[in-house]
Amino acid sequence: MLPDNVRVSGHPLIQHKLSRLRDKRTEPKKFRELIREISILLAYEATSDLGLSPVAVETPMGSAQCAELTETVGLIPVLRAGLGMVEGIWEMMPGAEVWHIGLFRDERTLRPVQYYNKLPVAPTVQVCLILDPMLATGGTAVATVDVLKKWGAQRIKYVGIIGAPEGVGRLHDAHPDVPIYLAVVDERLNEIGYIVPGLGDAGDRQFGTA
Ligand code: URA
Repeated sequence: MLPDNVRVSGHPLIQHKLSRLRDKRTEPKKFRELIREISILLAYEATSDLGLSPVAVETPMGSAQCAELTETVGLIPVLRAGLGMVEGIWEMMPGAEVWHIGLFRDERTLRPVQYYNKLPVAPTVQVCLILDPMLATGGTAVATVDVLKKWGAQRIKYVGIIGAPEGVGRLHDAHPDVPIYLAVVDERLNEIGYIVPGLGDAGDRQFGTA
């Protein structure tokens, strides 16, 4: 049973695109396109509670009572696999700020090591969406939330594509206040921390470096 802050989308478009994404025959160009499209759909779900305020708009026919976003959103891609998730979501929210976090997983210890972080002293956004397609051991995800909380971020959400039960559990245990949005939770991690069946290395498959 998954904790109730873990939202796994059963949306048919996401599930269809996920099968293409997993396929080992999918080339990097198509792979990037799928990452982009799935990210937009997941972000649609992850942003369903953004704050709105009423606004009156003059149409050619009269006055319409409308609504506009009141919260500033930060997209936080985790380098490098999270990069492919940014662009599509950014098109939907052109006012979002993008703050990159560089963390890599030490292949020996499987622990995250931070190598890039240019966050300013005080938080500039009200809602942070962490973007990283693979929630594997959860070490990087926990470390990213730690960084954002230390920065002073108030509302943080995690948007990934494939999760392992181990990573989902670890992120939830460390940060139960952070909702987790995923397309699927897979069976397990293998002995080197890859998700099975997963899709392989999401960075290599996007950037053609396998
Ligand atoms: N990162 C990946 O790219 N793939 C995995 O399966 C786990 C971590």
